[in-house]
Amino acid sequence: MSNPLARLFPRLVDRRSSVEAITPRRTFQDVVLPPVTRRLLDDALTQVHSYELIFTRWGLGERHPTGTALAFNFAGPSGTGKTICAEAIAHALGKRLLLVRYSEMESMWFGETPKNVAAVFRLAEEEDAVLFFDEADAIASSRSTDVSHGQQREANTVVNVLLQELERFDGVVIFATNLAANFDPAFERRIRTHVLFELPGVDERERIWEVQLHRRTPVAEDVSFRDLAEAYAVSGGDIRNAVLRAALAAAAEPGPDDGKRIHQHHFVRAMEDVLAGKRVMTQSIIEPNVELRRTAEAVAQILPLLAQMQARTLISVAVAGAALLTAMTALILLLS
Ligand SMILES: Nc1ncnc2c1ncn2[C@@H]1O[C@H](COP(=O)(O)OP(=O)(O)OP(=O)(O)O)[C@@H](O)[C@H]1O
Ligand SMILES: [Mg+2]
Repeated sequence: MSNPLARLFPRLVDRRSSVEAITPRRTFQDVVLPPVTRRLLDDALTQVHSYELIFTRWGLGERHPTGTALAFNFAGPSGTGKTICAEAIAHALGKRLLLVRYSEMESMWFGETPKNVAAVFRLAEEEDAVLFFDEADAIASSRSTDVSHGQQREANTVVNVLLQELERFDGVVIFATNLAANFDPAFERRIRTHVLFELPGVDERERIWEVQLHRRTPVAEDVSFRDLAEAYAVSGGDIRNAVLRAALAAAAEPGPDDGKRIHQHHFVRAMEDVLAGKRVMTQSIIEPNVELRRTAEAVAQILPLLAQMQARTLISVAVAGAALLTAMTALILLLS
């Protein structure tokens, strides 16, 4: 079957697609959340479920034809379950999830982002899908009064288009942002509920370790998820990565497959590797700042020298200028 996105919006869907329609498979059974997040999410779900009753069966949709979109913001650090929960909401509604990787769309289609944002709303309407703007920090941020840059102008237009579309749309829209997103007040007003995704506590971590495995996964007797949860204060995403690494390591060991088990040392080693990988990433982000500081220090050291040189240069130029003036005056006198 041909991709309906490609048929409707050929320019939006290419090899590195920034828009993807997903048939959700993951449910709330697969998610373990801290109590506060759970409560906020339940509240969001109640709103979604009541929506049909209020706006369709009770007719309020006809009385209030605009401004009825259910817009949620899922805010929190990476790997805390924002995407999985968006999928679970779509699953609970029996709808597809239209995933928009906003930052990718923005960088791929400079100059066309506002048009594309409008297009995905049309598409979500046609497909009756839950619209999910992933990595939407840029979209959510305040409009700027400085429109001297094309990029800034475009960002402002995107927010305006988004506000208009939210006004017209009558479905469910979810934005995923990190905690630092600086919300435009007009945009903020249209968000019904902000769901804060926090890093899991020790109890949640223990359960996340468990839900990351399948009942067929061979886990050795010596494994203690409680110990792992206590030893590593990490996100669900990190636990997922460690579980997959541990399984790979156990599977790669010699011997018949039937005898293979994932042991505690596989999980420990895998988590250490995940953490080491993250440290490398952080360093590569921090390193340029160190470099920047060193450069600034070096510049600070040579600045007085430069100033001295500049003073000398100025004096030399002034002396040369005076000499030239004298020579020219002499020449004029000679010729007159
Ligand atoms: N609370 C959780 N319960 C169970 N699994 C989780 C949880 N959080 C994360 N995971 C696991 O980690 C994976 C990554 O999580 P997810 O993609 O939902 O994080 P995210 O908050 O969207 O991160 P990002 O901001 O990087 O997009 C999930 O597929 C899931 O396997
Ligand atoms: Mg995500």
